[in-house]
Amino acid sequence: MSKIYEALLRAEQERAASTNQPQQAPEQTTHVIERAAAAASALAVEELPATTETSTHVPVADPVYTEPRSYDEPTYVEPAYSSVAAVTHPTAPLDIKAVRSTVWKPMLDKLPALEERGNAVEQFRSLRTRLFGFRDLNKLKSILISSALPREGKSFIAANLAISFARHKASRVLLIDGDMRRSSLHALFGCEQTPGLTTYLAGQASLAQIMQTAAVNDDGSPLFAGLGSLTFIGGGEEGDKAADLSGSGRFKKLIEEASPYFDWIIVDSSPVNLVTDGVNLASACDAVLMVARGGVTKFEAAQRALGELKSSKILGVVLNAVDRSPQSDGYYGYDGYDLPKTPTGQATQ
Ligand SMILES: Nc1ncnc2c1ncn2[C@@H]1O[C@H](COP(=O)(O)OP(=O)(O)OP(=O)(O)O)[C@@H](O)[C@H]1O
Ligand SMILES: [Mg+2]
Repeated sequence: MSKIYEALLRAEQERAASTNQPQQAPEQTTHVIERAAAAASALAVEELPATTETSTHVPVADPVYTEPRSYDEPTYVEPAYSSVAAVTHPTAPLDIKAVRSTVWKPMLDKLPALEERGNAVEQFRSLRTRLFGFRDLNKLKSILISSALPREGKSFIAANLAISFARHKASRVLLIDGDMRRSSLHALFGCEQTPGLTTYLAGQASLAQIMQTAAVNDDGSPLFAGLGSLTFIGGGEEGDKAADLSGSGRFKKLIEEASPYFDWIIVDSSPVNLVTDGVNLASACDAVLMVARGGVTKFEAAQRALGELKSSKILGVVLNAVDRSPQSDGYYGYDGYDLPKTPTGQATQ
């Protein structure tokens, strides 16, 4: 059984266990749990050598899972390309200096990677390290964050991973809100939703026009460490056209246009079991990182999601919001990686 399947089973087991227990989660963990090489099929992954692994706890701002929101299109929707096919698109090269600077008011409780130190910082650093490990062996710049269903933590992972990358030697990071129907990243960062991805995909703005960076402090320093090298593209408006827009092929052009200017491109997306947008966007990205929510994501749902993304390279699964660490219980069998334990038994660094 592949590590990915073990991971998804783990999420399922967490779910089964949680249904027998009252929900109480003062702290939850985002685990970087599994690794798999970029294989043609999500179902036939090839493992890569491990890099490093840390085990930390993400402070929980909103630990209680609620039922998934309904999406506008609750079933699989085939994209229709006709409505955007005739729109002409600005073709000038990206004028990075023309990117607007806007005032950001980040929600610190939702963006723990902005903190100077702490469990979340370490956890996302661990994920980042693994992804650097993949990049040493494979072409890897654009990563779509995906999951089966709503509220599994895609946006949380996308935003905090982007921050973590941006904090690494001031890597240039582009974060794109690819969940055009239910954009949320602009709210997390307290910045502008539009003009955004839909505006570009509809041919109504250039790439530079939809990008934004955080205004710096009076002394020229970034608002938070990392934000100085983070560029953001909001979801934009008219998310009801997301199926058409995501399937138009223009997103591939966006990635190609932006790639020379960034070290990493992180793309948030909508749940692949409900709408097809994420699958469309994934086809333009180098790889996909799946998210499964411990105690919530059902194995079958995650399996189906992997099936939807079978044409994409799957890097692995982040088991999000679990209440214990793999190192402390040895479940994942990372032998020889022994973190010191706190008096409460939680592994620390
Ligand atoms: N590890 C975590 N610790 C604390 N809160 C979390 C964690 N993961 C997710 N959350 C919170 O859970 C909620 C749902 O997460 P998020 O919005 O990222 O899910 P999503 O998969 O993007 O959902 P959707 O598909 O509806 O956009 C958010 O309030 C988020 O802040
Ligand atoms: Mg989201």
